[in-house]
Amino acid sequence: MWTAAELTRRFLEFFRLKDHAIIPSAPLIPENDPTVLFTTAGMHPLVPFLLGQPHPLGRRLANIQKCLRTDDIDEVGDANHHTFFFMLGNWSLGDYFKREAISMSWEFLTSKEWLGLDPERISVTVFSGDEEHPRDEESASTWISLGVPSERVYYNPKKDNWWIAQSTGPCGPDTEMFYDTGKPKCGPDCKPGCSCGKYFEIWNDVFMEYNRTADGRYEKLVQKNVDTGMGVERTAAMLEGKDNDYETELFAPAMDEIMRLSKTKDIRSQRIVADHLRAAVFVLADEACIVPSNVEHGYVLRRLIRRAIRHGRRLGIEGPFCSKIAERFVSIYAKDWPELGKNEDRIFSELEKEERRFSRVLEKGLVEFERILAKNKTVTARDAFLLYQSFGFPLEMTAELATEHGVVIDRSSFEEEFARHRELSRIGAKRRFMSGLADRNERTIALHTATHLLHAALRKVLGPEVRQKGSNITSERLRFDFSWPEKLSEEQVKRVEDLVNAQIRLGVEVKREEMPLEEALERGALALFDERYNPEKVSVYTIGDFSKEVCAGPHVQNTKGMGRFRIIKEEAVSSGIRRIRAILER
Ligand code: ALA
Repeated sequence: MWTAAELTRRFLEFFRLKDHAIIPSAPLIPENDPTVLFTTAGMHPLVPFLLGQPHPLGRRLANIQKCLRTDDIDEVGDANHHTFFFMLGNWSLGDYFKREAISMSWEFLTSKEWLGLDPERISVTVFSGDEEHPRDEESASTWISLGVPSERVYYNPKKDNWWIAQSTGPCGPDTEMFYDTGKPKCGPDCKPGCSCGKYFEIWNDVFMEYNRTADGRYEKLVQKNVDTGMGVERTAAMLEGKDNDYETELFAPAMDEIMRLSKTKDIRSQRIVADHLRAAVFVLADEACIVPSNVEHGYVLRRLIRRAIRHGRRLGIEGPFCSKIAERFVSIYAKDWPELGKNEDRIFSELEKEERRFSRVLEKGLVEFERILAKNKTVTARDAFLLYQSFGFPLEMTAELATEHGVVIDRSSFEEEFARHRELSRIGAKRRFMSGLADRNERTIALHTATHLLHAALRKVLGPEVRQKGSNITSERLRFDFSWPEKLSEEQVKRVEDLVNAQIRLGVEVKREEMPLEEALERGALALFDERYNPEKVSVYTIGDFSKEVCAGPHVQNTKGMGRFRIIKEEAVSSGIRRIRAILER
């Protein structure tokens, strides 16, 4: 009987017999490649060797590689798209090229000793050529010489038959192999590459002889390489005669548990939960010790877990469930992937923490989402950012919710907002180190408290949708960036100043308390979601009944004697973001 394990075993054995060294999977979080957050294909860890550096194990390699890609995240829920997946591959680093690579692929697919697929059902695609690069005649003639009739050799342009990981780097034409499932054609144009399910893509051989440069040119690499990729989940499903990956042993025990817990039957949501939690388990198991956060790897992990939780709720699953599903995945994979067993405590506890954090705000956020939608009939990028800041909704989740409600959103403004948010987080991570304080003398402490008063005053004068976007304080002035679409009127500026000065004149006590982040949010504290906060214990600063914010401090103990607050400048920083500079006069 076919299993994914048997497929993997045979693949590696086949290439071992063809003199390939079997190399271990590289970590999911690349160790030396800052250009990608995750290993998205087997080639990432091998880039230096594709570029010509000698590999210690030789010129022929084969492996199974853990990969994570979020490009296809919206497709997850169908039969065989995933975020996390395993890819089998064989590599020639300047050794064999097209003819030999294709012959080995054909032998592995069709020989009774290996996969034993019916050659009559296999068709292939090759690169059709364009003004920059010639048609791939060598691949086509190799297939024909092996017995694939020319009518089952299809020619496609770069968008289909040219492989590159990102916009630059090693690349070249590829040839893809498809297996005819026997289903009827979906229409007269149905051919290999069609997504209707008739033609199942098994394998991709990439012939990397070019390097694409940043200015879009193609340079010849010093050597001709082969990089192939076969997705384990989908191929195992096909061999096992299952029409989707979730019925294979790679998912089934976890799917059973999800189905047992679900109150409603929604196969797409069930698959999303399974896919995303499996990905989360493998990310959490990585030695890089990634935990959910608001930047980079941690943000991707957070998105996956939060989306799984939301779909879990849609299924009517009540209470914590993520680590129950994760346990199933650990038992499925721990034998082959020891990092799962080794790090299982971290995996479960991080999942539980993130689930606790998000479950408390999810419902309120959904209510807020419905309210926005009922009121405005649409969801703007600004609403999305508000939902993110107040309820921890990843922006992509809000976009998905909007789509589910049949609301057409302005993707590009969302994307701008996403990009700005990411940018802010990166800069912010550095700058927030001192809570925006450049130096900590008395004046800066007073200005920091003035910043909280200003933030609260702006929300009172302009409305609660005003959000802090950045803060920087020197001993002379404060600078405060916030979301607002237009210039403040003189009258608004004056009202803000008056409100702040009234609090200073009153001599209000500034109180600091510690509590879990959720409690702070429940009590109405403003919080910038900051990955450095320990959500179990944050400090909350309250200024009378005027302002309440999660903040690392420090602040004055009483607003008395801070000086007279004056706004010296109010200007735009970018579209939708205003900046105020203000001082405290003695
Ligand atoms: N690098 C190629 C792919 O990921 C094989 O499809």
